[in-house]
Amino acid sequence: MKTGILAAALLATSITAPVMADVDPNVAEARQIIKQFFTQLKGELKKAMKEGGPVHAISVCNEKAPKIADDISAKTGWYVARTSLKPRAPTNSPLPWEKKVLQEFEAEKAAGKPVKAIDYSDVVEEDGKKVFRYMKAIPTGKICLNCHGGAEVKPEVEKKLQELYPSDKARGFKEGDIRGAFVLKKTL
Ligand code: HEC
Repeated sequence: MKTGILAAALLATSITAPVMADVDPNVAEARQIIKQFFTQLKGELKKAMKEGGPVHAISVCNEKAPKIADDISAKTGWYVARTSLKPRAPTNSPLPWEKKVLQEFEAEKAAGKPVKAIDYSDVVEEDGKKVFRYMKAIPTGKICLNCHGGAEVKPEVEKKLQELYPSDKARGFKEGDIRGAFVLKKTL
């Protein structure tokens, strides 16, 4: 009986090991960084919403998001940013390659792929150097609708957003939509 369990355990390891080895170490590292970034961001957001409501919390996305991204960049050596097909801040507008990937993400979602599982990676040459690029779709959660939804956005939030972002396109999202993507890059 005991040997049966041992054999099963060994079998399980031999099945899972090659699958894990299949994940490119750069992809694994990028995913880890995104997890850290997103967890930190959502934590700050929830805290700010609780403390002073959505108008107060706008500053988290406005000031803290780029700061957290810069801190992570400094610590890890990776370029970290966010982009979207419908950006709020003009500085987050997608580059041509990012736009193409975001459009592919929408097509994958339309074909039934869960947003959480949608990502992209490649290696390109930039200024004679090899660069690893990674993008991961960001799902729209319920809390996001306070500032990225339609009717959920309160008039005072709307007012503040219009003051800060006159060309805001990041509205009208529904839960489960792709809000945008994380973009990570590293020189190899
Ligand atoms: C309190 C308001 C608020 C909430 C809630 C909020 N955001 Fe934002 N979001 C903003 C603001 C403001 C910006 C612009 C940030 C900047 O200036 O870089 C932004 C920008 C973004 C961007 C960068 C692309 C762009 O449109 O400029 C992404 C991606 C994003 N938000 C995703 C989310 C997700 C996902 C959630 C829910 C987990 C969320 N946001 C919740 C206010 C909010």
